[in-house]
Amino acid sequence: MMIRSWLFVPGDSERKLEKGRENEADALILDLEDAVSNDRQAFARDMVRNFLSANPERATQQLWVRINPLDTELSLPDLAAVMAGAPDGIVLPKVYSAADVNTLSNYLAALEVREGLTHGSTKIICVATETASSLLTFHTYLDNVTERLIGMTWGGEDLAAALGASDNRNPDTGGYDDPYLIAKSLCLATARAIDVQPIGVVYVDFRDLQGLESECLRDRRAGFIGKVAIHPAQSAVINRAFAPSDDEIAYAKKVVEVFKQNPGVGTVGLDGKMLDMPHLKQARNVLLLAQQSR
Ligand code: COA
Ligand code: MG
Repeated sequence: MMIRSWLFVPGDSERKLEKGRENEADALILDLEDAVSNDRQAFARDMVRNFLSANPERATQQLWVRINPLDTELSLPDLAAVMAGAPDGIVLPKVYSAADVNTLSNYLAALEVREGLTHGSTKIICVATETASSLLTFHTYLDNVTERLIGMTWGGEDLAAALGASDNRNPDTGGYDDPYLIAKSLCLATARAIDVQPIGVVYVDFRDLQGLESECLRDRRAGFIGKVAIHPAQSAVINRAFAPSDDEIAYAKKVVEVFKQNPGVGTVGLDGKMLDMPHLKQARNVLLLAQQSR
């Protein structure tokens, strides 16, 4: 199953957890980090664990948990509490390098034994760009990172704080400033280099569904698959935007077909346009995505 929409749900809100379960999001991320105030951590951990245990059926919607960063004393109690509910995966925020992801993997291995879960069954995605050093350590993922890591997303808000910025937007264009575009590009390139899912960043203006759709389409053109959501209304838009359209599928089939009819040829013409190997690969990507989108 390809996860296109990842909906954040505050881990201390029973109402939102229930709403999330009814939502078409492919995965929920039950949040113990930024959405939960410090005095409600213990309460939220219990609520998340109970919710996981009460919802063991994950075929149409996976249940993930975002824990607190590893350099806080909250992260280990978070993990110790929620692993009893067998989350499909853990979202790791504020990483410094791949070493953090590997450390989390070791913790998970131990807790899987304690809970009688299959070794390696708990996956990881990381929010790869929330610290200043993270922009300089992407190469560490290429050297050695756990196979539990199945996706990577980026973030511009915590990064802005880490860089000492007063804003992360260009006032003239409204678009992200340079450091955030670098973060986005490095996240995409690294995820593709190690063959994990590059996941688009959250679109914070949750009432603007048209703006969300445009950004999803931009993300998809760039190579991202799926997007993080913060409001239930965003999931359907994301699911639709990341499923290839009928026109795209039809064109991709034509491209694959024309290469099939010309075996051993590296370049062909279709509708007056030159096509070579990268176009064939793109067409195959579209068909794969169509197959994986429910
Ligand atoms: N997950 C599940 N349900 C949600 C939800 C979410 N992320 N966001 C809103 N809802 C529910 C609301 O409870 C409400 O349901 P109800 O009227 O039956 O109680 C319904 O969806 C409509 O919500 P709405 O009134 O439009 O929004 P809001 O003002 O209640 O909430 C936010 C706005 C931003 C506070 C809320 O969307 C939210 O909590 N988002 C997640 C924040 C988060 O996790 N951040 C950390 C990651 S960046
Ligand atoms: Mg954050």
